[in-house]
Amino acid sequence: MFVAPDLRKLPKAELYRELASQIAALIQDETDAVANMANCAALIFYSVPKLNWVGFYLLKGGELVLGPFQGRVACVRIAFGRGVVGTAAEKRTTIRVADVNQFPGHIACDAASKSEIVVPLTSDDSHLLGVLDVDSPDLDRFDADDEEGFRAIGKVIAAKL
Ligand code: SME
Repeated sequence: MFVAPDLRKLPKAELYRELASQIAALIQDETDAVANMANCAALIFYSVPKLNWVGFYLLKGGELVLGPFQGRVACVRIAFGRGVVGTAAEKRTTIRVADVNQFPGHIACDAASKSEIVVPLTSDDSHLLGVLDVDSPDLDRFDADDEEGFRAIGKVIAAKL
């Protein structure tokens, strides 16, 4: 059994470094993408403080379709270019939103979400696979260090999709 030490009290840089290495260890011997995303969503959700939703949207038939997640029931299909998820996918860039109510076109799945970060996941040959979406019930929860941490984690996960 995989026993993950509690990372929530570590300084941020250390937390993300440890989390990336726990994720790498967690998925290294498994080839099933759904199983790996499910475990990664759970590990992130229970390792990073102040989150209310963590999950994946996968690019399927030109839209973003809900994948494994932790949190409340979420919107299933998001059009390319819509919401934070669709915009990050279209622009292939990480989007950090300090206040989701100020983001034009934000799609509210869980009313508790106040800030959000979405990291595009790309294959080795630069194809967009989907995104990692992380929501917080706190305003302005994600800073540049969180972004760096989630981008690094996104790379580890994308390599197994
Ligand atoms: N808020 C996202 C939708 C997905 S949920 O946060 C789970 C968006 O605007 O794209």
